[in-house]
Amino acid sequence: MNSILVTGGAGFIGSHTVVELYKAGYTPVIIDDFSNSHPKVLQGIESIIGEAPIFYQGDCSDVQFLISVLAKHPDICGCIHFAAFKAVGESVLNPLKYYQNNIGSLSVLLNALREYKITQLVFSSSCTVYGQPTSLPVDENASIEHANSPYGYTKQVCERMICDVHASVKGLSSAVLRYFNPIGAHASGLIGELPLGTPDNLVPFITQSAAGLRDGLTIFGNDYNTPDGTCIRDYIHVVDLAKAHVAALTWTNNNPNSCEAFNIGTGKGNSVKEVIDTFELVNDLKLKVAIGERRPGDVEQIYASGLKAKELLKWTPELSLADALIDAWRWQQNLSVEA
Ligand code: UFG
Repeated sequence: MNSILVTGGAGFIGSHTVVELYKAGYTPVIIDDFSNSHPKVLQGIESIIGEAPIFYQGDCSDVQFLISVLAKHPDICGCIHFAAFKAVGESVLNPLKYYQNNIGSLSVLLNALREYKITQLVFSSSCTVYGQPTSLPVDENASIEHANSPYGYTKQVCERMICDVHASVKGLSSAVLRYFNPIGAHASGLIGELPLGTPDNLVPFITQSAAGLRDGLTIFGNDYNTPDGTCIRDYIHVVDLAKAHVAALTWTNNNPNSCEAFNIGTGKGNSVKEVIDTFELVNDLKLKVAIGERRPGDVEQIYASGLKAKELLKWTPELSLADALIDAWRWQQNLSVEA
């Protein structure tokens, strides 16, 4: 009983987690519909782990498809549910797409887990559930704020759905992971982030600018109430984040009938300007940077208290911002060579 269903396992965080699951002795069973990922990620995983990962192409909100995969793998004992849409701006323009996919797929999945007596669930949530916290670092007891976007609201609803199901049935154990800002790539340079179209997020925009794929980088506002005026986030290396999922699976195994939320961050805030400066320093590059307007919906600053994850999951991040920015640039250069 060591197979783990990984929905969205070809995505950025999913693919790195698949690698860490292998390293920890699990057999990941990936499902992904490639709606926001690329089949070549599977080759990258194969090159790292030395064998082709088990993979099924499909949409996990499709009941028949999901059941067919579970029926083929009766040794699946847990699930890590990544598959969801995640673009804040798009969710404002097309909220129903987000409600249908993010909430619909979790509902289908929870039913299927119950039917197949799968008792361990690790769910991808986001620090977006906190909005702008009143005190920092933010811990898991902070209030859940009014969501700024349909995307953020789907994460709040999904967290609530898991709690409600947990209260109603015995057997399920769930770890809800509230990610801060995942960045970086696998040190091999074989897997990393593959944003389709213009990236929304800071680090892919930086690496694409450095590669000459973008004209230049705009800092969205330098008049915030922070030391250098730019927004502060908690940037976590994706490999550390992937390892947190393995730790969370162990926790769900050791703590039956439990349901807890965990912050997964570094505990350290860095400003947009610090990220750009660090990228330039560690990669010996100079970026073309302009100052622009504030981006609507951005919170001024947020960073995690990681005490609960450290205590209960026995997990702490090991890699630095510099490590992440070196790895992200290596990955971007490999992509540019392939293109
Ligand atoms: N930023 C820029 N220029 C850019 C891109 C981003 O200045 O070209 C700034 C943003 O304004 C923000 C910071 O860089 O201050 C980080 O922005 P990201 O878009 O990389 O990350 P966010 O913190 O906005 O969002 C991320 C995830 C969301 C998640 C959220 C939780 O992308 O899915 O964290 O806070 F909900």
